[in-house]
Amino acid sequence: MMNNITIAAVVPAAGVGARMGLNHPKQYLKIGDKTVLEHTLSKLANVPRLDKIYVAVSETDGYFAALDLSALAVTRVTGGKERADSVLNALLAMQNTPPDWVLVHDAARPLVEVSDITNLIEQCLTHQEGGILASKVKDTIKRGTSHSEETVPRETLWQALTPQFFPYQQLLTALQQARQNKLQVTDEASAIEQAGQPVRLVSGRSDNIKITTPEDYALASFLMSQQSKARSL
Ligand code: CTP
Ligand code: MG
Repeated sequence: MMNNITIAAVVPAAGVGARMGLNHPKQYLKIGDKTVLEHTLSKLANVPRLDKIYVAVSETDGYFAALDLSALAVTRVTGGKERADSVLNALLAMQNTPPDWVLVHDAARPLVEVSDITNLIEQCLTHQEGGILASKVKDTIKRGTSHSEETVPRETLWQALTPQFFPYQQLLTALQQARQNKLQVTDEASAIEQAGQPVRLVSGRSDNIKITTPEDYALASFLMSQQSKARSL
């Protein structure tokens, strides 16, 4: 029964990458012979359960059209001002043929392992609730401005990663409500939480990093070369 469920992937790729400080968006940085976005899309293309992949790209993007994505069969949709707007636009673009579930994954996370994606999907479908990949906080955490005011117990602290996986209609409604109420939404899970619905935390690899700053790019390039070495062994 569960194998009949349709799943669409959404890849928000409409950001400008301000924190990277380049003159082009970070999803078009090269790692080896491919861009970050292509690495991310080829990971998703290797997840058999995904029926379709939608990529949210900025209207003013001058790079996407030059990529050869013919082997990946992706659909381009127009991104929005914030990440949540890009995701919502993608969900609206599939309104006429809605999938049962959607899997949202940042373009800037090319290191995600296919096995982690599959695990997230299986756990959420088994429990029939939405969820996200997350990794337990490892460092000691301080709260403060110029001086530490307290050490925050980390036992229940997680770093939210992507993919994030929710029933299509549930996520669409939650994002629309968040927009209407002008609520801050930095990931899909925060919209679902604000709607009072459950978000399952599925433990994922902590090296599924988001390329945000130049240090992240250096680390991602190294990790990516390790991954491709391991694959060719
Ligand atoms: N994103 C998007 N639409 C936006 C903003 C972000 O689709 N309006 C995407 C980015 O392209 C990225 C993902 O959301 O793949 C995560 O966002 P983030 O790491 O914040 O990327 P940027 O917004 O591009 O970077 P910055 O915040 O440093 O400008
Ligand atoms: Mg951003």
